[in-house]
Amino acid sequence: MAPRSVETAGPLETESLGGELAALLSDGDVVLVRGELGAGKTTLVRGAARALGVSEAVTSPTFAIGNRYRAALGTVSHLDLYRLAALEQEDPALLEDYLGPGRIAFVEWPKDGAPELAGARISVTLTHRGGDRRGIEIAELADGPAEGGPA
Ligand SMILES: Nc1ncnc2c1ncn2[C@@H]1O[C@H](COP(=O)(O)OP(=O)(O)OP(=O)(O)O)[C@@H](O)[C@H]1O
Ligand SMILES: [Mg+2]
Repeated sequence: MAPRSVETAGPLETESLGGELAALLSDGDVVLVRGELGAGKTTLVRGAARALGVSEAVTSPTFAIGNRYRAALGTVSHLDLYRLAALEQEDPALLEDYLGPGRIAFVEWPKDGAPELAGARISVTLTHRGGDRRGIEIAELADGPAEGGPA
């Protein structure tokens, strides 16, 4: 996947981009979603989850570090690690229920260097551009699983 950089003019456009992103994903994929408070991370995940077949309302995780939604393909996980100081200080099993086979996971505020997230395949970065405009960059991560094609 070639890196993409787009600008959206409102939340519905960001949701729609999330839907396009969903089409690139497959079982076990982890997507890191970065950006300042209110940049639109959850909005993008909402659109992606919808496109993956989640019918429940997708809202920001509040009490737990994440939410899990049933979808036709399996589970869609939505994590928000904002309130975690450092993953190293947490039970290593903390993320286990959210990542791996049978799931597609979106992680807001991922912690740098967290081994649990080392296999993430795609990175999305959202930036405030004034008013309702947001810059959104989608890139494939080098150390994710290799794409098919010539070696
Ligand atoms: N172009 C846009 N894309 C996404 N959201 C937008 C856009 N323009 C305005 N908004 C508004 O900005 C807010 C984005 O909130 P959202 O919860 O998605 O952000 P977030 O990055 O997940 O924040 P947090 O870091 O608090 O989790 C929403 O109120 C949304 O309606
Ligand atoms: Mg959020």
